[in-house]
Amino acid sequence: MNGLELRAIVLGSGAGGGVPQWNCRCRVCRLAWSGDLRVRHRTQSSLAVSVDGDRWLLLNASPDLRRQITDTPALHPRGEDRQSPIVAVLPTNADVDHVAGLLTLRERQPLVLHATRSTLDTLAANRIFDVLAADVVERRAVGLGEVFEPLPGLSIELFAVPGKVPLWLEEGDVVTDLVGEGTVGVAVEGGGRRLLYVPGCARMTPSLEARIAAAHVVLFDGTLFDDEEMIREGLGTKTGRRMGHMPMTGPGSSTEAFAAFAGVRKIFVHINNSNPALIEGSPEADRIDAAGWDVAFDGMEIVA
Ligand code: MLT
Ligand code: MN
Ligand code: ZN
Repeated sequence: MNGLELRAIVLGSGAGGGVPQWNCRCRVCRLAWSGDLRVRHRTQSSLAVSVDGDRWLLLNASPDLRRQITDTPALHPRGEDRQSPIVAVLPTNADVDHVAGLLTLRERQPLVLHATRSTLDTLAANRIFDVLAADVVERRAVGLGEVFEPLPGLSIELFAVPGKVPLWLEEGDVVTDLVGEGTVGVAVEGGGRRLLYVPGCARMTPSLEARIAAAHVVLFDGTLFDDEEMIREGLGTKTGRRMGHMPMTGPGSSTEAFAAFAGVRKIFVHINNSNPALIEGSPEADRIDAAGWDVAFDGMEIVA
């Protein structure tokens, strides 16, 4: 179609907790709390995409969604009465940072909620989400590999990436790199351009490599700088991989796995507040920059 341009706005570039996190005095959060301009404040994980600049699809609905909408003029209601340029929402998993914002969308606005059957089942088992009234919010199950158009001219395909069940559903031994409907990446295509959105991914796979090779822009899991960071900084007991996130650096990391894709624009999203690459001018930020990656910030606009 003519005149269509694939655009994305990073509504929230942080991981769960945001930056600074409400209860955190880690190295990065301390700088953020003190107003140090080297660390931007970041809200939790969400992306808006459009091909006409008029109608938008939300990829993930973060607990900060209300604030993200007020901060983003393209998402403000227009005209009179009650309506919104947000016409559809698609969570990539059922993590709190990706679905809690659905509750912000409860004011009887017609919307389509697209998700895998697995994610829809998780939402259906939680009665609080029934506040999205079934007569206005249609829930549409999307199969992996099924191509559909949530907006005219914008095509979407979901694909499985290694991940785990949401933290709040963990029980017993947890498989941290399960490939199925629980954690998906989103292949977005419009105006002849292709963007991949993968805010959570436990490890690289050959099929993901093939998708990256065919994309113009990739927004990818930037949760941790290195796998041991939470443990080393005394912030927790889990590695990044245990949390279902491959690290930016080190063996099996994203910078290593993406090194072959020099021609693809690479942007980290879903960045945890413990990640020192969030400190502008730090050696870690410089290393990410040297590896050819951008670190997303809230309000970042991307023309694919
Ligand atoms: C994650 O990305 O690992 C989750 O969002 C963690 C959480 O639920 O806080
Ligand atoms: Mn998360
Ligand atoms: Zn912190």
